[in-house]
Amino acid sequence: MSVKPGNWEISYARKFGPLPEHVKELITTFDLKGVWTAMEKCQKLGLTKSIGVSNFTRKKLDDLLSFAKIPPSVNQVEMNPVWHQKKLKEYCEAKGIIITAFSPLGAKGTLWGSNEVMDSEILKEIAEQHGKTIAQVCLRWLLEQGVTMAVKSYNKERMNQNLEIFDWSLTKDDHEKIDKIKQIRVNNGPVVFIPNFWDGET
Ligand SMILES: NC(=O)c1ccc[n+]([C@@H]2O[C@H](COP(=O)([O-])OP(=O)(O)OC[C@H]3O[C@@H](n4cnc5c(N)ncnc54)[C@H](OP(=O)(O)O)[C@@H]3O)[C@@H](O)[C@H]2O)c1
Repeated sequence: MSVKPGNWEISYARKFGPLPEHVKELITTFDLKGVWTAMEKCQKLGLTKSIGVSNFTRKKLDDLLSFAKIPPSVNQVEMNPVWHQKKLKEYCEAKGIIITAFSPLGAKGTLWGSNEVMDSEILKEIAEQHGKTIAQVCLRWLLEQGVTMAVKSYNKERMNQNLEIFDWSLTKDDHEKIDKIKQIRVNNGPVVFIPNFWDGET
């Protein structure tokens, strides 16, 4: 069970254009404290094992943690070799919040994604050196970052390929190369977030 602000606007705006004022108001006046308290109650009642958030920056987590009695177990955010989320990762580690990386392959071929990850020459070179695919390099890199990940495929072969990341590892040199990849938030999209939603943190 998770709180997930921000995405509503992207998907709505992509399909139907700018948000009507009444919807905008509904979203910007979103009562995080009220929703979180209700989610805590669900957990206490045994209706859910754990509660979490998605697309929360450090600032939003600070806000949430200032009143939460149960901290979020997980924060699902975009994370991949072109969007490292280093500051957020450090923050979440310190607070005991697990990161789940969405769009771990940069969501190539989707409305919200880009080719930046799967067409990276640096990742291609690393993949060739290991006899692996770029997708496997991305997923192995995330594993070695100590985060969990949500990768999506409708293809059985690629699903299997995405599981074959546990019996090999990246080298220090590979990590140094990936550290130098230019950072771009893939899920930025062509729409502007309501400022209240994404506070510009990188
Ligand atoms: N919380 C949020 O705001 C948020 C935002 C975005 C996404 N998500 C979630 O995150 C999960 C995954 O993210 P995503 O779909 O955005 O991006 P993704 O997993 O990075 O990319 C999915 C794309 O990669 C392809 N793919 C998968 N494995 C591959 C492989 N081994 N080689 C080549 N291509 C491969 C898929 O095609 P095929 O299906 O043809 O294999 C699909 O086009 C989903 O469950 C999604 O719902 C959450």
